[in-house]
Amino acid sequence: MALQGAAAAEELVFYVNGRKIIEKNADPEQMLLAYLRKRLCLTGTKYGCGGGGCGACTVMISIYEPASKKIRHYSANACLLPICSLYGAAVTTVEGVGSTKSRIHPVQERLAKCHGSQCGFCTPGMVMSIYTLLRNHPEPTSEQMIAALAGNLCRCTGYRPILDACKTFCKESICCQRKTNGKCCLDQEDDLFDNEEEVPTSLFSTDEFQPLDPTQELIFPPELMRMAENQPKQTLFFRGERVTWISPVSLVELLDLKAAYPKAPLVVGNTSVGPDMKFRGVFHPVLIAPARIPDLNVLKYTNDGLTLGAACSLSLVKDILTNAIAEFPEEKTRVFCAVLQQLRTLGGEQIRNVASFGGNIISRKPTSDLNPVLAASNCMLNLASRGQRRQILLSDIFADGVGNNTITPEEILVSIHVPYSRKGEYVSAFRQAPRRENALPITNAGMRVLFEEGTDVIKELSIFYGGALSATVCAKQTCCTLTGRHWNEQMLDEACRLVLKEITLPGSAGDENVDYKKTLMVSFFYRFFLEVSQSLKTMNPCHYPGIPVEYGSVLQDFKTRMPQSIQIYQDVEPSQSPQDPVGRPVMHQSAIKHATGEAVYIDDLPSVDGELFLAAVTSSRAHAKIVSIDTSEALKVAGVFDVITAHDVPAANEFHFSDDPEIIFARNEVICVGQIVCAVVADSDVHAKQAAAKVKIEYEVLEPVILTIEEAIKHNSFFEPKRKLEQGNVDEAFETVDNIVEGEICIGGQKHFYMETQSMLAVPKGEDKEMDLYVSTQHPAIIQEMVAASLGVPANRIMCHVKRVGGAFGGKILRTGLLASVAAVAANKTSRAVRLILSREDDMVILGGRHPFMAKYKVGFMNDGRITAVDAKYYVNGGCTPDESVLIRETNMYKKNEQTHFKQKLDPQNLIRCWNECMEKSAYYSRRTAINEFNKQNYWKKRGIAIVPMKFPFGLSTPYLSQGAALVHIYTDGSVLLTHGGIEMGQGIHTKMIQIASRELNIPMSCIHFCETSTTTVPNACASVGSAGTDVNGMAVKDACQTLLKRLQPIIEKNPTGTWNDWIREAFKQSVSLSATGYFRGYNEYMDWEKGEGQPFTYFLFGAACSEVEINCLTGDHKNLRTDIVMDIGCSINPAVDIGQIEGAFVQGVGLYTMEELKYSSEGALYTRGPDQYKIPAVCDIPEQFSVSLLSPSQNPYAIYASKGIGEAGFFLGCSVFFALRDAVTGVRNERGLKKTFALNSPLTAEQIRANCADAFTQMVLCPTDCMLALSLHSSSPCYAQYSLGEK
Ligand SMILES: Cc1cc2nc3c(=O)[nH]c(=O)nc-3n(C[C@H](O)[C@H](O)[C@H](O)COP(=O)(O)OP(=O)(O)OC[C@H]3O[C@@H](n4cnc5c(N)ncnc54)[C@H](O)[C@@H]3O)c2cc1C
Ligand code: FES
Ligand code: FES
Repeated sequence: MALQGAAAAEELVFYVNGRKIIEKNADPEQMLLAYLRKRLCLTGTKYGCGGGGCGACTVMISIYEPASKKIRHYSANACLLPICSLYGAAVTTVEGVGSTKSRIHPVQERLAKCHGSQCGFCTPGMVMSIYTLLRNHPEPTSEQMIAALAGNLCRCTGYRPILDACKTFCKESICCQRKTNGKCCLDQEDDLFDNEEEVPTSLFSTDEFQPLDPTQELIFPPELMRMAENQPKQTLFFRGERVTWISPVSLVELLDLKAAYPKAPLVVGNTSVGPDMKFRGVFHPVLIAPARIPDLNVLKYTNDGLTLGAACSLSLVKDILTNAIAEFPEEKTRVFCAVLQQLRTLGGEQIRNVASFGGNIISRKPTSDLNPVLAASNCMLNLASRGQRRQILLSDIFADGVGNNTITPEEILVSIHVPYSRKGEYVSAFRQAPRRENALPITNAGMRVLFEEGTDVIKELSIFYGGALSATVCAKQTCCTLTGRHWNEQMLDEACRLVLKEITLPGSAGDENVDYKKTLMVSFFYRFFLEVSQSLKTMNPCHYPGIPVEYGSVLQDFKTRMPQSIQIYQDVEPSQSPQDPVGRPVMHQSAIKHATGEAVYIDDLPSVDGELFLAAVTSSRAHAKIVSIDTSEALKVAGVFDVITAHDVPAANEFHFSDDPEIIFARNEVICVGQIVCAVVADSDVHAKQAAAKVKIEYEVLEPVILTIEEAIKHNSFFEPKRKLEQGNVDEAFETVDNIVEGEICIGGQKHFYMETQSMLAVPKGEDKEMDLYVSTQHPAIIQEMVAASLGVPANRIMCHVKRVGGAFGGKILRTGLLASVAAVAANKTSRAVRLILSREDDMVILGGRHPFMAKYKVGFMNDGRITAVDAKYYVNGGCTPDESVLIRETNMYKKNEQTHFKQKLDPQNLIRCWNECMEKSAYYSRRTAINEFNKQNYWKKRGIAIVPMKFPFGLSTPYLSQGAALVHIYTDGSVLLTHGGIEMGQGIHTKMIQIASRELNIPMSCIHFCETSTTTVPNACASVGSAGTDVNGMAVKDACQTLLKRLQPIIEKNPTGTWNDWIREAFKQSVSLSATGYFRGYNEYMDWEKGEGQPFTYFLFGAACSEVEINCLTGDHKNLRTDIVMDIGCSINPAVDIGQIEGAFVQGVGLYTMEELKYSSEGALYTRGPDQYKIPAVCDIPEQFSVSLLSPSQNPYAIYASKGIGEAGFFLGCSVFFALRDAVTGVRNERGLKKTFALNSPLTAEQIRANCADAFTQMVLCPTDCMLALSLHSSSPCYAQYSLGEK
């Protein structure tokens, strides 16, 4: 079959939000996300990563199945969904769910009112995941709800408020969900909820919620039903610029196509082909979509198992297996259970809903979670090619250990046969990933054993591993050798040694990562051994001893449960006017718009006539001379307009904020990987990116290449000035101490991972060199300054506008200025509007992040535990330019009237109160006892607990950096327009400013509107950083409002019973100015580095957090069980916003300290470039019990209404989880008699936890020849102690 002469391209027919779409030129390369956003202007669906990893682009797909006459609704990631796959489907986006113009859907309403959105960028995706679940299950269980959100990331909230909204839809929502111990908050006393009647614990009222009424939902388009019922299915062809899509309807047709285009991939879910084409430069001119072929969708029960079509989605397979497990006897369903075990955590729901069973198998990724278990279970593949059908065992593909391709290019997989398990047969599957859910495995395994009837003699043994290698591998030799052996400890010992010998891993010996994978391989086998031993006992308790009770818990995997949470704050005084919103948990002013997708972010702005898209070309070398830049190929790409380089910058290409310049375009030399060298502008982002990939840069590497702190120390490469703080005589202090501990600790860096990537739109206005800049930034004034300097125009020609920012966390300041300058230079040169929206990968490569630290410490302490001397040297990997600086904080507890290490007086009373309350609320001592008891009774699982105090200094050390300014207009209809210099990035600043204005002007919040932050209304505003936004701008808003009120006072006094509108009309008549600026000059902060003393901070926030964790010693996995936080934030202006800030920051801190690992190549290129490799916390990572209490109001004379600036303060408390993990590891080590001192670095990943829980398996990996001792089932056995001798 040839493409030429084939039928003409079809019209693509589908529906979006009830509207029929007929696309005459459907392009197979076009994904639904871009189509919705650019073509249909439905910008509610967001771009967060483009690779299926974040859920920001979630939509609902509905299809009608004529055979069952049912409509299937499922969530999907629009970023990986080719529009061509949507023929006959109905798409629902967040706009179709509800809007402020029509009706807000209960999901949208509840997410908003439960404070489930902060920056709001993830919110439409969250809405769609919840909405889709409710379409299928109007009263879902909490497990279903948690599962539905596993594929959605949020960087701001810490998920708790989102889950609070979800709970209101669950059947068991009114209860705390904590039934495992038989206790429930409704009927039992519970320590989380004890004694809290006096204080408010609810941040929203469920009485306000509209009920969920499924009859109100958008109906499935009848026309699509008729099409599915009546229209004969015909082959579909879609031809795009470069790619042709063919969707056949019969198997014969498919086989003909495959014979004609053997290289063309079959595309079902596009979750494998899509990322390959998008990110790995793979190109396929022809794509074949077989999903409509009935043979590939079969479900057939046979005598010996279940046959499933290759195009069945993983979700469908999951449902089918779940049903089969419920229906068939346990003995028959062990394979099904093992496969289901992997499916539960494979990807997120959006991925499983589209990814096909066959696709996972055939794409043969080493990270496939299904291939090891399916291969071990003797699953059979039913293959077909033109004129031929055959069956092969999946294991045959992998059994030779190199993943040889035994399937020919012309062959397709029709179906997979999954057998029933037999009597005496046991099957298990295991996986360990950087995050428990929605993360590719580090190592996984499928294992099966069949015993001779009625014995423990191995008749068949199958062991397959994945994740660790370049393909799924079989430990064939090991299995052969062990056949015929009894299932006992000798067999276990030999099995582990044989596996380690047989399976060789890429990477060098001694490489920690390789050691971890090997440890997992044997640990998994050990776990299998325990499981089977236990099953043998169940089968025949007299013959088989089973496993010791203290080993039992390791057979239970950690599960994600709906967290139980409580938030405690102080209510406003009863005397406060009901209209005065200050101190009340007011909803974020944009929350509803976040939830309906109407909130506008930079890339949602409609395109400007003639607009161009910019793609940056970045350095691939860390330190090199640019020898040449060849743009000739790039300029040939369709739609390319120009290439912009340093030569096009009219004025400054460099900015000197310190000794080392910040550079817009690298000119002769590059100083880091990811530095912008030039940029391509084209008529679409696709063309711009295609062309950018074709720019060739030749480099000559320059020495030295410094990538790590150690290398910087070696080359004495430091940014000046170095800072030193000294208190007392350190040398003398060390002479009097009883003990000294010295060591080194490293804390890895962290990417900000705001959900909205760096975004900007530069629009030249055509006269007087004016330019409008719409930028996602925390600091419009610096953007204005940098762009004006780069263009060589006065700042008054550059208007910078910021409506809102989709998360920033400190990452949208100076670097954003450089990127804005790139866009502005391009706009200036081309005289066109230029849009620059970084892809997630570019964002992670180009931007910096939180810096890695190394500390060398020497601590002197007395026998009673008092620390009396500390000498600490901190090294920060500050990157290639100083960028934004980092402060070093001391975390020691203070006593009365002490001084900080920079000699600032501090009253620690509230710190001590936080500590004591946290100790009490967390029931630290009784839980410590319970943990000790748990640890005694469980050998392979251990718990740990830690409580950490925190002092967060508020201030920016320089008075002029904390200026605030505001502008308030009152219009003659009484409405108020408020603006100030702060940026809304999720921290609710505009909501708080409106609350302040409402109190000051004594009018309802609804009369006050905030439009945007702009350099045209508030000039020279300071950056919204350091948690200072509300403090400084709040003062300015108050000032402006008071000025206005003063002017109105005579009018009010004359007519005291008049209304606001009466007074305003009268004021206008009397020619009273109804517009005022407000100003706050900043705090008197200073630091004298010469003397090492000062008042760099105005006040301190205090807090304490207690966290409890459980670890799995065999895998290093952990679960956050409980966290209690007590924070002193003065008198909260908005407790809902402030608690949200604390929780969000805490969870981001948990990411920093336990999960988020940045990996670089030896040349300094970042490997972890997106959510698929870089794991930020997801729903599964938040504590199962999560409580936040605000300390009863403390007076803070320095900030507005005695509040305290909150935003970052909760972040550090994430380390309580780190220390709880350390405590658990210490428990393991103490029990095993291992060395008492050991170093753990941050992030404390599963790999480090496993390595520090040293046992026979880790020892076996380190010294494969030293395996004289048999592994014992009994923890009292000497083998553990002896194995660990080397460590002692
Ligand atoms: C964000 C994300 C997270 C993921 N997480 C996990 C995870 O945790 N664990 C895991 O195991 N996997 C994971 N995956 C991988 C995912 O499971 C697979 O990509 C998916 O199952 C492939 O199915 P598909 O239908 O999307 O394949 P497609 O991309 O449509 O096709 C994949 C390949 O399979 C071939 N193929 C498909 N069907 C057939 C057939 N019937 N006959 C012959 N060849 C065929 C195609 O030619 C193509 O080469 C993840 C993927 C993403 C994007
Ligand atoms: S943008 Fe689609 S999953 Fe992230
Ligand atoms: S609110 Fe979820 S990412 Fe900001």
